[in-house]
Amino acid sequence: MANITKWDTIWHSRGDNASWCRGIILTGGRGLPATQPEEQGNPMHEAEKSIHEFDFNLIGEYFSSIERQGPGSPQATLQALSFIDNLAADSRIADLGCGTGGQTMVLAQHTPGSITGLDLFPVFIDRFNARARELLLHERVTGVVGLMDNLPFHDEELDLIWSEGAIYNIGFVRGVTEWRRYLKPGGWLAVSEASWFTSERPAEIDRFWKDEYPEIDTIPVKVAQMQQAGYIPVATFILPETCWTEHYYQPQAAMQAAFLQQHAGERAAEELVANIRHEAEMYARYKAFYGYVFYIGRKV
Ligand SMILES: C[S@@+](CC[C@H](N)C(=O)[O-])C[C@H]1O[C@@H](n2cnc3c(N)ncnc32)[C@H](O)[C@@H]1O
Repeated sequence: MANITKWDTIWHSRGDNASWCRGIILTGGRGLPATQPEEQGNPMHEAEKSIHEFDFNLIGEYFSSIERQGPGSPQATLQALSFIDNLAADSRIADLGCGTGGQTMVLAQHTPGSITGLDLFPVFIDRFNARARELLLHERVTGVVGLMDNLPFHDEELDLIWSEGAIYNIGFVRGVTEWRRYLKPGGWLAVSEASWFTSERPAEIDRFWKDEYPEIDTIPVKVAQMQQAGYIPVATFILPETCWTEHYYQPQAAMQAAFLQQHAGERAAEELVANIRHEAEMYARYKAFYGYVFYIGRKV
């Protein structure tokens, strides 16, 4: 859900239906809006609720059929991991906004310790736990449904917080600031975040991103924000283009026709695919100006 690739686009974008999803995601995962007693039986509310449920299910269905829900790759995950040391069998790791766990399983195969993957979408967590079992990682890798702004961890419990393409859901500054308390002193943070590569850029892509994710900024600004939040900035690197193409857009292109056929005549499904295709076109046109950047820091 965000890269712009992402989920942001989907959530936010252009369709009238898109903002609901952004609301659900960004308000912290309360999931579907709660029905107040006085609203029960209100046809407007019921209609709104059914649209929300429909789109929520649709997005879950679309993205749970592919390996990743945001740009990234096993190589990028391992490159980020190469900056992190001192993990041991008793280390506690959390992967926030883990999706179906594409990156989590790579992480698990190359680190000791136990990993909790957390995501808003139950259908992603079902897939996550099935994959952990298939890979015989289930004794130390567990997926839980939850919200990244209300984490089920104790203060100073974690050795490492991982989050690929997901911190934007609550915002980079808020995420790095609020998550810090869950890290042990000296604990690690590794997050990927949409970032500008240049100080200036064409108006079209500037507008596109400012609509999708106004907190997008340049790499030096993000590094300074991380430092300000109480981390030593250890490393940053730009994810290669293949993280967007080969590992994210191409798998989707391969399944979109079947998805549209299955949902023939459904406006929400058509808009979902149209938004993702538009986002892919924007990336192809303007990839010199933005992308995902990994930020790795250590709690001071
Ligand atoms: C762009 S996807 C990235 C998924 C995965 N990390 C990857 O790189 O493939 C963002 C993920 O954040 C999850 N998400 C969105 N808002 C969330 C929230 N408030 N709490 C927990 N997860 C959330 C979405 O369900 C989605 O799986």
